[in-house]
Amino acid sequence: MPNVRDTLGIERNYPLEEDSTTIYRLVEADLIEEIAGEEIRAPQTLPRSGTEVFVADPTEIVKALGLANNESAGLFIGKTASGTNTSIVLKRETIQRHMFICGTTGSGKSYAMGVIAEELSKHKLPIVFIDTQDEYSVLVKKLGGQVVEPGKDFKIRISSLTESELLDLLPEAMKKSSLQCDIVAKAFDELQADLKRGDLPKFNLDDLLEKIKEVAPELTAKEGDVQRVTEQQ
Ligand SMILES: Nc1ncnc2c1ncn2[C@@H]1O[C@H](COP(=O)(O)OP(=O)(O)OP(=O)(O)O)[C@@H](O)[C@H]1O
Ligand SMILES: [Mg+2]
Repeated sequence: MPNVRDTLGIERNYPLEEDSTTIYRLVEADLIEEIAGEEIRAPQTLPRSGTEVFVADPTEIVKALGLANNESAGLFIGKTASGTNTSIVLKRETIQRHMFICGTTGSGKSYAMGVIAEELSKHKLPIVFIDTQDEYSVLVKKLGGQVVEPGKDFKIRISSLTESELLDLLPEAMKKSSLQCDIVAKAFDELQADLKRGDLPKFNLDDLLEKIKEVAPELTAKEGDVQRVTEQQ
């Protein structure tokens, strides 16, 4: 890449890298933690320009990132890919918090999730995958788990859904019509009310379809929307 001197035709006034004993490198770094004596704490001091830069050793990296020291003590995610060779081991208590795996497409998010699952399994912790893209069934089987498919291996009763969950399941074309959504919602709400009162022990899709036949004329008549409904049918 041509530099400014080359472009402007200015002669170089410094030795080439291979002839020089002093090599300058420009790097950008973000402060994560600072070491003050024995203590590692949140950065409180602004680094001065010209300050010497040290490469952190594995012990400092582990301390600064709040990691565990020993691979079997926590979730061993892997080793650093470059720089100081350090094992990245999340502390066991990390699992009690939320985790967020982010990265660009193909950067290894799903793979990292698989590694975490293997590590959780190593600690004999139960795992449930809600796997909408069937990415993990091979791993689940390998770890001795069971793969179940909704609709085939288990069903969710319609009466256990909330109104918005049910409306979410409607076909896209139906979602565009507020009248059709209102009809489904009203039928569902009436059945839910029956359920709460104890008039019904549970209800299924057939009950909902029957109820829709009941409430639809009420709603369409009230809104003077009969024509719209016939058009859409
Ligand atoms: N730590 C790793 N070691 C070896 N191979 C890896 C590692 N992480 C990811 N890969 C490989 O890189 C490829 C992409 O990884 P992965 O599918 O996990 O990425 P992703 O971030 O989930 O992608 P997407 O955004 O498409 O979901 C896969 O072939 C995976 O096997
Ligand atoms: Mg992925």
